[in-house]
This record gives sequence, structure tokens and C-alpha cells, in this order.
Amino acid sequence: MTLKERITATIAAEGPIPFERFMAMSLYDKEGFFGGETLRSEKAGDFLTSPEVSPLFGATLARFVEEENSRIGAPFQLVEVGAGTGSLLRALLGESSVDALAVEVSPAARKSIDPIPVAETLPTELRGVVLANELLDNLPMALAQRVDGEWRERWVGLVSGNLEFVDIAPRPEVVAWLTQNAGAVPEGGWVEVQLAAEAWLRDCVSRLISGAIVLIDYGDTAENLLPRRKDGTLRTYQAHHLGPHPLDEPGATDITADVNFTALLRVVETFDHELVRQDDLLSRLGLRDSLSEYRMGELEAARRGDDQERIRFRSLKTEAETLLHPRGLGDFKALIVRK
Ligand SMILES: C[S@@+](CC[C@H](N)C(=O)[O-])C[C@H]1O[C@@H](n2cnc3c(N)ncnc32)[C@H](O)[C@@H]1O
Repeated sequence: MTLKERITATIAAEGPIPFERFMAMSLYDKEGFFGGETLRSEKAGDFLTSPEVSPLFGATLARFVEEENSRIGAPFQLVEVGAGTGSLLRALLGESSVDALAVEVSPAARKSIDPIPVAETLPTELRGVVLANELLDNLPMALAQRVDGEWRERWVGLVSGNLEFVDIAPRPEVVAWLTQNAGAVPEGGWVEVQLAAEAWLRDCVSRLISGAIVLIDYGDTAENLLPRRKDGTLRTYQAHHLGPHPLDEPGATDITADVNFTALLRVVETFDHELVRQDDLLSRLGLRDSLSEYRMGELEAARRGDDQERIRFRSLKTEAETLLHPRGLGDFKALIVRK
């Protein structure tokens, strides 16, 4: 039986399931998008993330790790959650010699991270820096729609044997989340209800003894996401392009949505925290200065007629520009929490 057939059989036996259960099966089942043997976040995979674009991302974040290391001292551990291929950790450890751990649920990703130590869950106590790039947008979420001025949930059911969204009265925890975090969503608007992301952050903060958590992802505050609520932000990716409808090919597509940072800010409001853009964070850590040096380096190498150096500087320049692009990766947000 394929994953889609198993999901269909489950719904036929039990009735409609919440979207977060469908998403969890689609992504993390043994035949799910991240559950199988295929490595997903590499250049040849289905999506391209900042650490896969360039080791400059990790090398720049190494400065943040060093700052925290100086601030809190030993013992100090760098933990990356949802480490994918390990590209961020490898680049970071090239610049900073700290004790490191990757936390990954994907078996294919875990293999590729080796020889960096890897675990399936967070350590009980954290002292150091916890980093996660594009983790929260992949945590299972519920779906809601604004209908006649009320909230309705969209579960996954069977209509004439096909997987389709079905209308369900919203669960109390979903309504509570929407009331606090959705904002003034217009009639017909769709909202991804990110209860798991909120729970993950609450758990992570409670484990942090001292140090910082840095969560980088696409998304924004509820207010800034409002213009996108008509159709919602739920989408799939396949082979670097927007993929089919989320219910069409469970296991074969990445399912994701913009992270609602308003909900996350609420979790950390009593701690020292800031929400910044990726371009601002990386600039603060020196990447824009490096970019100026790469531009100068390219010009000088061209003047000298040194083609090899010119090409080397040009590719560094292009990588830095991609990480800082104000409408691309630079527009990602970073939530930083310190204890
Ligand atoms: C979009 S990929 C990002 C990979 C990497 N951080 C990067 O930027 O290239 C998300 C990763 O998070 C992992 N993941 C999802 N839920 C997780 C969890 N609860 N704990 C650890 N890893 C998780 C997935 O297996 C996947 O490898």
C-alpha cells in the first residue's frame, strides 16, 4: 500500500482527520517526504535553503555563536535542530570550534550529518546556542477558514473516494490560537494554525539554562501576513518549484506555510528577545562588509587579469547577495531569544 492509500484507508475507517495529522503522515511517516531514504534539502533536492546556498551563512552565524560563547562561557554546546544535510553546522564548525550536536528526525538527513553527533530529540538541558533554520515551517499545522464571520476547521476527508478538505467545527485549542494570533482575517481567509511550532518553542525555552535560541524562517507577524490570508500561505514544493495541491501527493512533496511569528513572540515575551530580518542579522554579523570586500576583490582581480581570483570573488559576491536579497532570503525573519 502506498502512503496515500494508507491515509485513505485510515480516513475510510476512522472518518476525517485534522490537517496536522495528514501533514505529519505526509512528511514524517516512513514513506513520508522526510521519513524516507531521500535527502531533501541538498542542491539536487526539492528546496534550497540558506546553508545550501552558501557556507557564508554558517560562517557568518559563527560570529553570533562566538559572541554567545564569550557571554556565557563554558560549558557551551551548539545544537542545530532540523539540521538537514548538516551544511550549516559544517560551515559553522569551520569557523568556530565548539561542541556541537545535530537534532534530526529524518533518517536520510541523519546519515548525511555524520561525523557530527546527531540525536533525534533535544537534550534535556541546553547551555549554549540552539539554531534552527526552516524547521518551524515544516511542523504539522491545523487549517482554519473564516466563514460567515466565524472560524471553521478544514480537516482531510474522503469525497467520492478522493482526499478533500471537509468542514468541521473548530476545536477549542484551535479557536484559542486563532483568537490570539490570527489578526483581522477577512471573510473566506485561510489560516495555518501553528500549535506545534508554539509548543516546540515553549519546550525549547524551558530546556535552555543559559544562552540563545535562533529561529530563522520565512514568515512574518500576523499583521504583515494579513494580505496573504485570502488563499492562505500553505503550499508544497517539489524539485525547487511550487508543487501540487497539498492533498494530491502525500510523501512526494514538501508541505509548508509561512511562520506566524506573532504566536512565537507571545511564547517568549517574558524573556530577552528580538525579531529581525535575515538581511539585518547577517549584516550586523559582518556579511555586508564581506560583500564589499568581495566586490572590491573582484574588481582588483579583473584589473590584474587574474581570472581565477576574479571568478572566486564573483561567486562569493553572488552567494552573499543571495543571502541578503531583500525580497528573497534576506526577507526571512530571525527570532532570537536570550537567557
Ligand atoms: C526544510 S528542512 C531544513 C534543513 C536545514 N535546516 C536547512 O536549512 O537546509 C527541515 C528539516 O527539519 C527536520 N525536522 C522536522 N521536524 C523536526 C523535529 N521535530 N526535530 C528535528 N528535526 C526536525 C526535517 O527532517 C528536515 O530535515
